[in-house]
Amino acid sequence: MKILITGATGLIGKAVIKSALNQNFKVNYLTRDKSKIKSIIDCKGFYWDIKKDYIDLKCFEGVNAIINLAGEKIFQKWTKKSKKEILLSRIKPIDLLIKGIKLSNQTGIRTFVSASAIGIYQSDFEKNYTENETENPQNFIQKTVYNWEKKSLSVRKFIPYTSVLRIGLVLSKNNGYLKETDYPMKFGFGIQLGSGNQWQSWIHIDDIANMFLFIIGLDTKGIYNAVAPKPIFQKSFLKIIRKRKLRKFIIIKLHNFILRVLFGERASILIDSQRVSSKKILESGYKFIYEEADKALNNLYKRDDNLT
Ligand SMILES: NC(=O)c1ccc[n+]([C@@H]2O[C@H](COP(=O)([O-])OP(=O)(O)OC[C@H]3O[C@@H](n4cnc5c(N)ncnc54)[C@H](OP(=O)(O)O)[C@@H]3O)[C@@H](O)[C@H]2O)c1
Repeated sequence: MKILITGATGLIGKAVIKSALNQNFKVNYLTRDKSKIKSIIDCKGFYWDIKKDYIDLKCFEGVNAIINLAGEKIFQKWTKKSKKEILLSRIKPIDLLIKGIKLSNQTGIRTFVSASAIGIYQSDFEKNYTENETENPQNFIQKTVYNWEKKSLSVRKFIPYTSVLRIGLVLSKNNGYLKETDYPMKFGFGIQLGSGNQWQSWIHIDDIANMFLFIIGLDTKGIYNAVAPKPIFQKSFLKIIRKRKLRKFIIIKLHNFILRVLFGERASILIDSQRVSSKKILESGYKFIYEEADKALNNLYKRDDNLT
């Protein structure tokens, strides 16, 4: 089985590649950065220039499945220009892939799995969101993810097994949410965001990597929540991390209005609550390595001062 991965040089992409090679998949990947074409060992890198509508068609040779992870970072300063880029960086790569698939005449591509995000769900402190929740996008994130998913799922016209994974907060020692949470702790502070009672639906990096490959093996289509079975409150995350740190920290509460002053509209990413169900992926047979935050954070911190 050969897979083609976009966004392979990012946090999730690197983990997917590691897992794929362990499971004896062959891996091709696309990057916009020519210096990264030979950067990942045991894989073949290919160049694409999304802005110029260029894709190296050789990337599709012998490919059976595509994993799409390409997209501009969301937690950056939001301006009219950057918001447009955040959306287009998720739409245009898919258009270019479709164009490339058609031009390459490769008929063996049966599966397309794209990243999506739980940010599609509206903030709610009570609901337990399943994939059936009717989308009614209101804010920038919800609208972006909604349009990204719509574009991803349109690929089913060309590839029979097309699905999206609505990814939660990815816990990793290398980057992302945990690194941001960890940073103030170096100075003796943990930050409680608002009430701290917002649900955080997380997933360990090893599980999200395995899940993409699991979905490929499933010959399935549709939408899956990609979160661990036990979401927790933001303030509970802090408490679990504190137990694992040798250097203790005090918890400081930043009220919602301060977060809104500091981050403007982006504060919604920090304050919003999404309790998301993993029932569908569990019933499909996926076995989590990390079902509980305690175990996941144990693995990442290993009772050290820093992420290990
Ligand atoms: N990490 C999370 O907690 C999380 C949660 C929910 C959803 N997701 C989604 O999952 C996907 C992968 O996440 P990640 O954390 O691995 O992201 P990441 O580390 O930021 O990597 C994304 C990759 O996408 C490519 N990329 C960046 N800007 C681009 C642009 N303007 N146009 C086309 N490609 C671009 C880059 O690859 P090249 O430079 O090699 O081209 C980059 O390595 C993203 O779409 C993200 O929104 C992530």
